Amino acid sequence: MATLEIHDLHVSVEAEGGPREILRGVDLTVKQGETHAIMGPNGSGKSTLAYSLAGHPKYTVTGGTVTLDGEDVLEMSVDERARAGVFLAMQYPVEVPGVSVSNFLRTSATAVRGEAPKLRTWVKEVKEAMERLSIDPSFAERNVNEGFSGGEKKRHEILQLELLRPSIAILDETDSGLDVDALRIVSEGVNRVRETGEVGTLLITHYTRILRYIKPDHVHVFANGRIAESGGAELADKLENEGYEAYVKGGASE
Ligand SMILES: Nc1ncnc2c1ncn2[C@@H]1O[C@H](COP(=O)(O)OP(=O)(O)O)[C@@H](O)[C@H]1O
Ligand SMILES: [Mg+2]
Repeated sequence: MATLEIHDLHVSVEAEGGPREILRGVDLTVKQGETHAIMGPNGSGKSTLAYSLAGHPKYTVTGGTVTLDGEDVLEMSVDERARAGVFLAMQYPVEVPGVSVSNFLRTSATAVRGEAPKLRTWVKEVKEAMERLSIDPSFAERNVNEGFSGGEKKRHEILQLELLRPSIAILDETDSGLDVDALRIVSEGVNRVRETGEVGTLLITHYTRILRYIKPDHVHVFANGRIAESGGAELADKLENEGYEAYVKGGASE
């Protein structure tokens, strides 16, 4: 069972006037098979947590530890993290000009699996995964994220998730900008991967909407760069009714 353990994580970003601490002591353990929702107000540091786990160079870890099955994740390069099974679906996926979806997926799969997937089975695998996500076949020939609609970007992220089969999946605001139909399709994709029991999911979201489709095992409220409260699915219902005010009062991010 893969286990991601985050202990007392502190992260800063370079801002005007010097480094600014965004994460202020995050503690979280995610096991394979579990789904954790991370919920919190804008600016509380949710994306910073996601990027820090994936190894984005803009974020400097100033304290704490992150391990995957006891291995030091913070010592790993971005590629090594991906190979170790950490997957990040970004809140704002970036364009990769000149690289088709098809090539991108195969290159990623080769990197993560350690060998190129056999062409014939791979083509079938991709085709079937695209069908399940109601993605048009012509999509495979387009350049990654170039001119993609919000919904297309998110479906593409879930397509990667389905094909790469990580042990830890970090999904940052995968519900943002989706209409009801796209939200359902994307959620079904996440649930399919979840049902394998082989992935631990960190579902980062501002709104409770996606939790109607993906039922979390644990819910954490994120405020001011750390987890302010943890509970079960009922905590999300409380947030739906009461919002985040109780957690940000007096604290704010400054
Ligand atoms: N690269 C960066 N440079 C400067 N400030 C940043 C950077 N990334 C995040 N921040 C700041 O860190 C805080 C947390 O941002 P973020 O992690 O995106 O929050 P959330 O995802 O919860 O909305 C915000 O105040 C944001 O402005
Ligand atoms: Mg964010």
